[in-house]
Amino acid sequence: MRCTIEKSRNETVEKIVSLAKRRGFVYQSSEIYGGLNGCWDYGPLGVELLRNIKDEWWKAMTYRDDIEGLDAAILMHPRVWEASGHVENFTDPMIDCKQCKARFRLDTLAELISDKNKEKALKEFNGVEGETLDDKFTALLEKPETAQQLLNLISCPQCGNKGTFTQPRKFNLMFKTFLGPVEDSNNVIYLRPETAQGIYVNFLNVANSSRQKLPFGIAQIGKAFRNEINTKNFLFRTREFEQMEMQYFVKPGTDKKYYDYWKEIRIQWFKSLGMTPSKLRFHDHPANKLAHYAKEATDIEYEFPFGWGEIEGIHNRTDYDLSRHQEYSGKSQQYYDDVTKEKYIPYIIETSAGASRSFMAFLIDAYYEEEVNGETRSVLRFHPKLAPIKAAILPLVNKDGMPEIARKIESELRPHFKIFYDDKGAIGRRYRRMDEAGTPYCITVDTQTLQDNTVTVRERDSMEQARVSIDKLVAYLREKLM
Ligand code: GAP
Repeated sequence: MRCTIEKSRNETVEKIVSLAKRRGFVYQSSEIYGGLNGCWDYGPLGVELLRNIKDEWWKAMTYRDDIEGLDAAILMHPRVWEASGHVENFTDPMIDCKQCKARFRLDTLAELISDKNKEKALKEFNGVEGETLDDKFTALLEKPETAQQLLNLISCPQCGNKGTFTQPRKFNLMFKTFLGPVEDSNNVIYLRPETAQGIYVNFLNVANSSRQKLPFGIAQIGKAFRNEINTKNFLFRTREFEQMEMQYFVKPGTDKKYYDYWKEIRIQWFKSLGMTPSKLRFHDHPANKLAHYAKEATDIEYEFPFGWGEIEGIHNRTDYDLSRHQEYSGKSQQYYDDVTKEKYIPYIIETSAGASRSFMAFLIDAYYEEEVNGETRSVLRFHPKLAPIKAAILPLVNKDGMPEIARKIESELRPHFKIFYDDKGAIGRRYRRMDEAGTPYCITVDTQTLQDNTVTVRERDSMEQARVSIDKLVAYLREKLM
């Protein structure tokens, strides 16, 4: 008898955070010093899952003849960030509570204030536009002439005091540091807030050295840093994270075609790795909400327990970035089209996924609780390609020659797969531990093995067992893990 247990939304995130720590997926950074907000460490299982996600992305994006790989430096010339618009525009509006010193992003205030509080404050305004309470509240905050008046009427979500907010200020999200030993303003450089710019400044290098013709892309995986005002929801918004970005360079006029093409390819990628299709959707950006560089943009969103959230952005960035780099560097960024004999700056279609945010989505999506014969089992139903451990080898008992056979199987499988060996405790408990780690197959050496050289292979989701000959195990697993 087996049935899935429904969980409440909050319960799921709490359970995932606790499982992530207990089983070695993710730990709080610098935990013994009280933790560092917005930074996380990936443990033994987490690092495998993250690596598998990145490997699958890398294979999907670069094992094709029109995309090249790149690994650019995190530190870049400071002019890059002037050209990209980040020095001027990569800001969040921020307010502080003068009483308790808490800091809030102005555009997230609506989420933090109670509806009663909002209603009371809104009574002081006439004819505010917007359908919902939140729409009206946000509309007032977006206009400098009404923002301050509204802020004077509401209470701080942290200390409850009224009228204690500072004026909204722009806060740049880039982390600053200094290049070389002298710490003055001439030596300021930034930790990159996106990997994309490393690709743009290498566009001609890659085009010339790889002899690629348009349309072609450049893909990169790497760390990015943002000094987020409010980090939240575990790995969703962190200060250090990883991106998997691909920039596709196309002839102007063909951009719409490739934008639509990449939208489909990218959502399919998440589905192909087992993410629940009904929990994925596009959120197209309305024209008045587009980023400063974008002509068209959509987010691939996943339905997290706390609501829909972006896991990947797809943008038509036009020729904005290359034109700006041409202007700021004084170096031509034009492409010579030897078919049409024209020179032009290509348009760019960008696919920008968060590796760490995808990690969180894959982890949450895989998590199930089931009642099996009156007991609860937690299971991570990862796609086999993403599972951190591919198979566990479990001798039924720690005697009668079973551990020796199990160790031999282990040494035969290890060159091919990430394997885990466990001979401690009851077999049921060992299965449960592997379910919780998301291991797709458990191989058990039992009394029958001693007679006919076969083992049982238990499949994680169905819990069904098959009898497989030891000498066929590598081929069997290889086929199943595809
Ligand atoms: N180059 C375009 C760009 O960076 P973005 O929408 O700001 O676009 C792309 O970021 C992706 O990076 C997001 O969809 C998200 O998955 C991830 N991301 C952005 N900020 C993040 C943060 N603070 N923490 C974790 N992931 C983040």
